[in-house]
Amino acid sequence: MIVAIDGPAASGKGTLARRIATHYGLPHLDTGLLYRAVAARCLALGGLDDVGASEAAARTLDLSTIDAEALRSAAMGEAASVVAARPGVRAALLDLQHRFAAQERGAVLDGRDIGTVICPRADVKLFVTASPEVRAQRRFRELGARGAAVTFDDVLADIRKRDERDSQRSAAPLVMADDAVALDTSNLGIEEAFAAALAIVMART
Ligand code: C5P
Repeated sequence: MIVAIDGPAASGKGTLARRIATHYGLPHLDTGLLYRAVAARCLALGGLDDVGASEAAARTLDLSTIDAEALRSAAMGEAASVVAARPGVRAALLDLQHRFAAQERGAVLDGRDIGTVICPRADVKLFVTASPEVRAQRRFRELGARGAAVTFDDVLADIRKRDERDSQRSAAPLVMADDAVALDTSNLGIEEAFAAALAIVMART
């Protein structure tokens, strides 16, 4: 069983993907981490401008060395969306994602283009959304809890900027697949959102 979960930043897709994967005992890949890791490598080498260097970083990415915690910052999300707009970077990460999805038991993948590009034949496609304000509020709380000195307005502006870049790019833009089911989590707590997501998965499998 392959479950594809897409949606914008802070929509709740990552949490839902983890919970669904645990529920079914399936491996889970947070594909945003791949782009974050590529961006981190580029920044460590001097900056994001060198397209060839970002493609090389994507080609040589090793999933087992990714340190998720170190890549969580808002700045890294922003940097990830810059390198993620490059077709060469996306192409270099295709094989790794396809291999992950091809595991015998199945898999849960979350990102922006899972249902449209990476796993167009997934058994279930969820498109998780929430209003920009609600997503900014969630991210603001999360960052505050980690001690980051940010304002709500800054977080909201970042979210809007990233939404725009991810939706407007020509390479695999963030768009809902025709056969995906939309789940708006704006007014749902985590448990309610999980119950709703699970009901969608169950109805489709
Ligand atoms: O989901 P996350 O916030 O970690 O993703 C960081 C960035 O990576 C996104 O803003 C997006 O530009 C990019 N991304 C992507 N395709 C995916 C997953 C993430 O372009 N499948």
